[in-house]
Amino acid sequence: MAVIRSVIQGVGAYLPEQVMTNADIAKIVDTSDEWIVARSGIEQRHIAAEGEKTSDLALAAAHKALVRSGIDPTDIDLIICATATPDRTFPSTAVAVQAGLGISSGAAFDIQAVCSGFVYGVATADNFLRSGAAKRALVIGAETFSRILDWEDRSTCVLFGDGAGAVVMEAQPSHGGRDDRGILSTLIRSDGRYQDLLYVDGGPGSTKTVGYLRMNGREVFRHAVQKITGVIEETLVSTGYAADEIDLFVPHQANKRILDGVAKKLGVPIERVVMTISKHGNTSAASIPLALNHAFEEHRLSEGNLVLLEAMGGGFTWGAALLRW
Ligand code: ACO
Repeated sequence: MAVIRSVIQGVGAYLPEQVMTNADIAKIVDTSDEWIVARSGIEQRHIAAEGEKTSDLALAAAHKALVRSGIDPTDIDLIICATATPDRTFPSTAVAVQAGLGISSGAAFDIQAVCSGFVYGVATADNFLRSGAAKRALVIGAETFSRILDWEDRSTCVLFGDGAGAVVMEAQPSHGGRDDRGILSTLIRSDGRYQDLLYVDGGPGSTKTVGYLRMNGREVFRHAVQKITGVIEETLVSTGYAADEIDLFVPHQANKRILDGVAKKLGVPIERVVMTISKHGNTSAASIPLALNHAFEEHRLSEGNLVLLEAMGGGFTWGAALLRW
């Protein structure tokens, strides 16, 4: 049966130049490289330069994805930017990217689902493309978390970093078969009962300040493995695939221990998991496209590969996307 599938035609990413190692952080707060590596797998993170905005990172990643897709920016009719660290309260970071790319048609908007933002963005774009409401979408995850970290709180500031990644998705006619390229399934979930376990303690509508990230790490960890595994199992059941058929698992890079736990629970061999956390920490919505870009550049992605994306973040929000590369 002829259907429309959303096919990823290009991927790109950008990391700010400045690198902050664990040893650098140990000069600011009472911590150590050993502690950070053992608890999270993080060795270093990138920090945006003064004046470098989330939209600057997003634009650099978007440029790369567009060049690789071979699609002209003016043919993009949907831009979704997933970010929890927008340049301004409004307008959206997506419209800054739109202007930066010289696009003045179609629609551009932000999605706020914190670390799950990229999966939410892919799910939203997929629905726009399959319904015929858009033809070519740019989905970006971009963050400058260094700006919302309390650099006196060692339990949080060691975990996060800045970066951006992007994909270009195009609506393509398909037979809808198992081997045809494109997004096969997206599932997004949230449960607001947990909003106080991971949040920012400010906002324009409450404190009139930006605020700082606060987290109950132990509780987040407890929920993460369970919720991520749950949504992946739901995805596999609904599409009829088994975990061992996944060629590449591209998870949100929050914590190596969470990723190890999920892979073990699902029975996915660790060599099929893309792990970039050591190089850039948790970059929230940017981490999946950064990891996807890494896999692409390392030639770990071949046409026809079955690829699974997943994330969980503040809210809680979580989700998964299964696609044929
Ligand atoms: N350096 C050294 N010691 C530290 C640090 C640090 N940076 N941070 C905390 N500690 C200390 C604590 O003070 C505590 O000391 P105490 O026993 O004397 O009180 C001790 O280490 C243990 O603290 P815990 O918080 O219990 O450590 P835990 O083993 O839970 O590890 C961590 C903390 C890494 C945050 C873990 O809970 C975790 O990974 N949680 C998941 C959080 C996460 O990934 N969040 C990302 C956002 S959500 C997402 O993307 C899925």
